[in-house]
Amino acid sequence: MHATKVTDDIYQLSVNVDNILFEGLWEIPNGVALNSYIIKGEKTAIVDGVCGWEGVPGQLYELLDKLEIDPKSIEYLIINHMEPDHSGWIEDFKQIKSDFKVVCSRKSAELLEHFYGHTSNILIMGDNDTLDLGNGHVLSFYEIPNVHWPDTMVTFDNLTGTLFTCDAFGSFGKAEEANYDDMLSEDKLAFYEKEAVRYYSNIVAAFSGPVKKAIEKCAKLPIKIVAPGHGIVWRKDPGRIIENYSKYASYQKGPAREEITVIWGSMYGMTEKAVKHAVKILEEEGIEHHVHRVPETSWGTVLASVWTSTGVILAMPTYEYKMFPPAAAILDEMGKKKVQNRIAFRMGSYGWSGGAQKELDEITARNKMNWSFLEPVEFRGNASDEELKLIEERVRELVRAVRSSVK
Ligand code: FEO
Repeated sequence: MHATKVTDDIYQLSVNVDNILFEGLWEIPNGVALNSYIIKGEKTAIVDGVCGWEGVPGQLYELLDKLEIDPKSIEYLIINHMEPDHSGWIEDFKQIKSDFKVVCSRKSAELLEHFYGHTSNILIMGDNDTLDLGNGHVLSFYEIPNVHWPDTMVTFDNLTGTLFTCDAFGSFGKAEEANYDDMLSEDKLAFYEKEAVRYYSNIVAAFSGPVKKAIEKCAKLPIKIVAPGHGIVWRKDPGRIIENYSKYASYQKGPAREEITVIWGSMYGMTEKAVKHAVKILEEEGIEHHVHRVPETSWGTVLASVWTSTGVILAMPTYEYKMFPPAAAILDEMGKKKVQNRIAFRMGSYGWSGGAQKELDEITARNKMNWSFLEPVEFRGNASDEELKLIEERVRELVRAVRSSVK
């Protein structure tokens, strides 16, 4: 956990969390930072009282203590988004102070009662509404619905040009003391950008349309610093993370990058042999590729990889007249995240009858994924030499199609 100065009168309180599944679902191998911010005018506000997990509220009090801020001096609790990782501290805060004001969107206010039984002292903010903290810190508010819930807004400090963005422009990855782009090496920035893709694809991806609208809205502001609720603060080059998010949003409908993701499962090694052959061809072609076995690899990792890939190879045996279940489950999840317009090739082994293709067609149609599939290669038991040759042809065809699609 770290308490650091963002700019004049603004401080970040960052608490790291790991060894959990984020949202009870997503693996976070490199942890996640939960960021709150203090703005000190004549009056003091805290942006996003982070919580959500045991031990976090205590750490927040310790960080306030480090900054010599008496929590009772906080007059405004700004909640940009009601998901408890950004709002949960209110329960603890209420126990030490009763007359603070909650600043939030109308939709957040609806949930305040249901989440925390809180119904009074609420200042509802909509687009362009302001709150003057004194000493020049006039805050403006802008709604960015569905990034990531319908209630989300951003807070902009007009004096310093700091935009507090909550989930928008965030990333996974634990925070270090140097939690600022101007203090990190290019290698470290690349690490956080990779974690941003994981975060985006797992948490925000389904709302890529609203992300584009939010970026358009925020572009009108004279932003000097982007201060998200997760990940690092961008104050040297705030445009970099905004541009990154713009690209991530565009990957939903594709084309994404010149990459291919291989998602495969195997029961007795027959499909696995064909996958090894396909991967050898990808290596020969020199195209960037990611290979994930399911169910061993988590959904979050597979999604992060597919999000940036224009091409997908699905390899799985037929299982009880359907797709190998973990492959079906991750394909369905990709559908829910609206991973659309990929170029794909399916192959796999069967014993007594096929059936994988029928379920694959059902899942892609139900989720309106609009993937473009090359002719599949199915083989009974082990793939013969002729079938391996066909697989090679299809993989090379896929590589060509991906390259010409991305250009
Ligand atoms: Fe980080 Fe949607 O909460």
